Amino acid sequence: MIVSPSILSADFLNLERDIRNLEAAGADAIHIDIMDGVFVAGVTWGPPTVKAIRQITSLPLDVHLMIDQPERLIEAYLDTGAGQITIHPESTVFLRKTLRTIKHHGTKVGVAIKLETPVQVIEHCLDLADTVLLLTCDEGFGGQSFQPLALQKISTIAEWRSKHQLLFKIAVDGGVQPETGKLCKEAGADILIAGSYVFNEEMEAAIRTLKTV
Ligand code: DX5
Ligand code: ZN
Repeated sequence: MIVSPSILSADFLNLERDIRNLEAAGADAIHIDIMDGVFVAGVTWGPPTVKAIRQITSLPLDVHLMIDQPERLIEAYLDTGAGQITIHPESTVFLRKTLRTIKHHGTKVGVAIKLETPVQVIEHCLDLADTVLLLTCDEGFGGQSFQPLALQKISTIAEWRSKHQLLFKIAVDGGVQPETGKLCKEAGADILIAGSYVFNEEMEAAIRTLKTV
C-alpha cells in the first residue's frame, strides 16, 4: 500500500521537524488538509504554507482542498509545487473544469467525496482522475472513527475502474489504522491516508505496518 500521512495530526509549531520525521520514517507522500472554515468547520493553512513545505521535503505533496469554490484559488495552489491537488464536487459547480485546469498544469488530479456523498456524483469525471479519495469518516477533523459505510463505495469505484479500464488510484482518508486499512485494501483501495494513527504510534513502525496491511 502507498502511505500518505496527514499532517493535520502534526505539531503545527514543529511542522518542519514532523515532516522530516515522516520522510525518515518511510512516508510515500505528505497529505496536507486545507480547510477554510466554510466548506468544513476547521481552518488550517493556505498556499504560502504549502509552498514553504515544498522547500523542505522531496516527498510528493498531496493537497486535499476542503475549501468552498476551489476554482477561486486553484492557480495559487498549483503554484505551490504540490504533486497532486484534490478537490470535492460538493464544493464547486465547476468540477470537470477545475479538474481540467489541474491536469493542464501537469499536476496530478484528485477527486474526493464526503462519506455521505454517493459515488455516482463523480462517475462522470473518473476519466480525469489520477486519484479518487473517499472520506471514510466525516470531513473536517482528525481522530474520528472509520465508518464501514465507505467499504461498499470503495468496491463500487474499484469495479468501475476495471470496467472502464481506468488507472486511477483509490485513496481512503479518515480513521485509517491497520484493521480498517486492511478492510479498505480488500475492498480495492491503494493509498492509505492516516493522521492520528501515524502520529500517535511509533511513526516508523506505524508506516511500515500500514504499508503491509
Ligand atoms: C479529515 C481529513 C483527514 C484527516 C484524517 O477531514 O481529510 O486527512 O487528517 O485523520 P485521521 O487519520 O486522524 O482520521
Ligand atoms: Zn484529507
